[in-house]
Amino acid sequence: MSAAGGDAYYDPYDFDIDTDPYPVWKRLRDETPLYYNEKYDFFALSRFADVERALVDWRAYISGKGTVLEIIRSGYEIPPGSIIFEDPPTHDIHRGLMSRVFTPKRVSALEPKMREFCADALDPLVGESGFDFIRHLGAQMPMRTIGMLLGIPESDQEAIRDHIDEGLKIKEGEMPQATGQQGGGDFVTKTIAAYVDWRADHPSDDLMTDLLNAEFEDHTGTLRRLTREEIVGYVNLLAAAGNETTTRLIGWTGKVLAENPDQRAELVNDRTLVPKAIEELLRYEAPSPVQARYVTADVEHYGTTVPQGSVMVLLNASGNRDERKFPDADRFDIHRSIDHHLAFGYGVHFCLGAALARLEGRIALDEVLNRFPEWDVDWDNAVQARTSTVRGWERLPVLVP
Ligand code: HEM
Repeated sequence: MSAAGGDAYYDPYDFDIDTDPYPVWKRLRDETPLYYNEKYDFFALSRFADVERALVDWRAYISGKGTVLEIIRSGYEIPPGSIIFEDPPTHDIHRGLMSRVFTPKRVSALEPKMREFCADALDPLVGESGFDFIRHLGAQMPMRTIGMLLGIPESDQEAIRDHIDEGLKIKEGEMPQATGQQGGGDFVTKTIAAYVDWRADHPSDDLMTDLLNAEFEDHTGTLRRLTREEIVGYVNLLAAAGNETTTRLIGWTGKVLAENPDQRAELVNDRTLVPKAIEELLRYEAPSPVQARYVTADVEHYGTTVPQGSVMVLLNASGNRDERKFPDADRFDIHRSIDHHLAFGYGVHFCLGAALARLEGRIALDEVLNRFPEWDVDWDNAVQARTSTVRGWERLPVLVP
């Protein structure tokens, strides 16, 4: 099934492919750079330059009908406040507002707390025969960090995270129903709405309070504050985006460094390499590997017209392994020079939490190396998470010598 020759087959809901999609994506890049899948009726771009260009071209490839294949196909009505599902000009207004309250200063001020969350998670495990990169660290530290930033009480953070986790799970071999439960559904929306109401009467120094107070000019030129529904949407999106992806990054850190013990030993001895290692991990195993878009006008790729109304799947994780951009792209190398990769997307929707995610990834790695310089993956008990949005581990137990 292809648009421009070749018989490579890519199925986003096939767990065997999802286990290691890179050989299939390499075939798409080499043989069918514009791919068409008849079964689920979508096109796909897989080369770095094509994915990057399409992510920038927000007029032809919009996010307003969703950015996940099954959501766009279902015609599900997107609730307001999800900037990831908005297009300019509304997107830019809402994003500007969010970046005003989500500042680099606020992010870097979190470092001591993040280290404390890591210590809480890891110290009790020192002296044990192993630990789980997801259960003990990946599912803990990002949740505590985003929960603190947003102002969600610790007692409710786990339930929110678990509902978000549950809502993302998919079944083998079928396109999931887009029910609105992706992102945690009614439970998470109701819980967050209750905090927003409570915060309105009890202001604090958290992001929720800032969002409640922020004034902005909307697309009609009216100076106003965000509606309750918009704030609930913002907080919901940040809770989901802030938890899931960073959890997966921490899982990949455990897996990939176990497979590259020499590079891990270098990191143990020279922590100045940690930021580069995290950048290479993001390139090598992008936690959010696929972004879908609705096509608003006929576009042409490799001599084939993609008709208006189609769904285009942008394989950013494939772009990150494109040999046309990164020499020896399938090799993990913490010394690699990376001008930019596509793990955080590109263009108007470039990840708003990138600085936070990078900091979390660096601190998590540093704190693990402080306590555990070596580990092996316990493959008998490792479990891959099955979702159509994030790719990574649900359980990644490791054994320490
Ligand atoms: C390793 C961790 C992360 C990865 C790999 C990641 C990846 C991405 C990607 C690929 C996009 C673009 C989506 C698109 O083009 O449709 C995105 C957008 C976004 N991310 Fe992240 N993300 C991470 C962590 C975070 C964190 C920690 C937060 C917030 C606390 C966050 C908040 C957002 C938001 C709000 C957007 C939407 C931006 C917009 O539409 O303008 N992300 N992220």
